[in-house]
Amino acid sequence: MEKLLALIFFGYISVVCSISCKDQNNKDVDWFITYKMPKQADSSPPGIANGVGFYYMDSNLAGDLKPSTNDLSSSDQAIAYTLQQYYSQQSNSDLFHVMYNDEMAASLEEKSGSAWGWLKEKVKSVLRSKAVEYGHTKGVVFFDNDAGYWLVHSVPKFPLSDSYVYPDNGMIYAQSMLCMSFKYSELSKIGTQLYYNHPQIYSSNLPTSMAADNPDLAKVIGGQYKSGAPYSSTLDLTTAGGTTFKSFAKSADFNQDLYASLVAPTLKTPLDVETWRRGDEIPQNCSLKYGVQNVEDMKVGTSTTFKYTKDHSKVGISTQASAPYTCIGDINRMTSQFVRGGGTICINNAAVWTTYFQMIATADSC
Ligand SMILES: *[C@@H]1O[C@H](CO)[C@@H](O)[C@H](O)[C@H]1NC(C)=O
Repeated sequence: MEKLLALIFFGYISVVCSISCKDQNNKDVDWFITYKMPKQADSSPPGIANGVGFYYMDSNLAGDLKPSTNDLSSSDQAIAYTLQQYYSQQSNSDLFHVMYNDEMAASLEEKSGSAWGWLKEKVKSVLRSKAVEYGHTKGVVFFDNDAGYWLVHSVPKFPLSDSYVYPDNGMIYAQSMLCMSFKYSELSKIGTQLYYNHPQIYSSNLPTSMAADNPDLAKVIGGQYKSGAPYSSTLDLTTAGGTTFKSFAKSADFNQDLYASLVAPTLKTPLDVETWRRGDEIPQNCSLKYGVQNVEDMKVGTSTTFKYTKDHSKVGISTQASAPYTCIGDINRMTSQFVRGGGTICINNAAVWTTYFQMIATADSC
């Protein structure tokens, strides 16, 4: 009798707990966006002086970017709650997951910055440069056969494959994350976008039954990637709650800037783009119909303004209120990125856009 009750009880649990992005209170949420501040002398959000303070907004109050009470070193915040669903079920082979990052997540032991660790990293990076370059892309996808989420982010060596830790290497610079909750039927489109992006995968499990439903995803997990025409894929992804995100993915063969050659012309709006820039700068082009300008300084919430050199997030923001797009993704605006796979995901939402547009303190202009 007890066994029967337990069976009924756990059967019930597995029906009601579908996989989803989780909010700051560990409740299901349709989507959330976070902006982690660079390490600087500020008191809001808490943790900013240690490089782990972040702002948060979600679908329940789009545009309302709030300082998070718990910083990223805590496991009581949206990102950790979202990932914890996977960590607590990592041995369940009926679930699909993939973790990918162009800068591979180190194991906990390797995290200490020893000279030996540094040498190993150097050797690895030389070996990598000889191999086919993976896409410049970072994220986690986790689904059961009913629902799941896609977490897109900019943090190198994150997340670990087995437990939640915010890495030391993600502290100095600003970083962003976007989480979207989907029904299972959207997974095949995510697979297609990853097939173009060519992610470097460090942890994955694809159940056979799901492989049949998601052919591009199966290729990605098998190490294959898109080559030849077409060089990009633009797809609308609709969240479980009915919000449409426009996903842009380019393959390495695209050989142009994602933002100027694909995102701006498709959205039909000029963009201000904040990404990592170190050399390989794309020259300004003032004769484009929908031009792209680099952001120079960011002012997030009530925090101190910071220069783009403190930012590792990859954000594109429309400059027109009539096309209120905010794009969060994983590729930089540098000529070196022309030949890397990568993408961005854009939300058409006036409240989100107003918040993000106000974050641009200074941008270049023609
Ligand atoms: C600027 O854009 C125009 C229009 O697409 C193009 O013809 C031209 O080659 C571009 N110039 C540079 C310097 O990239």
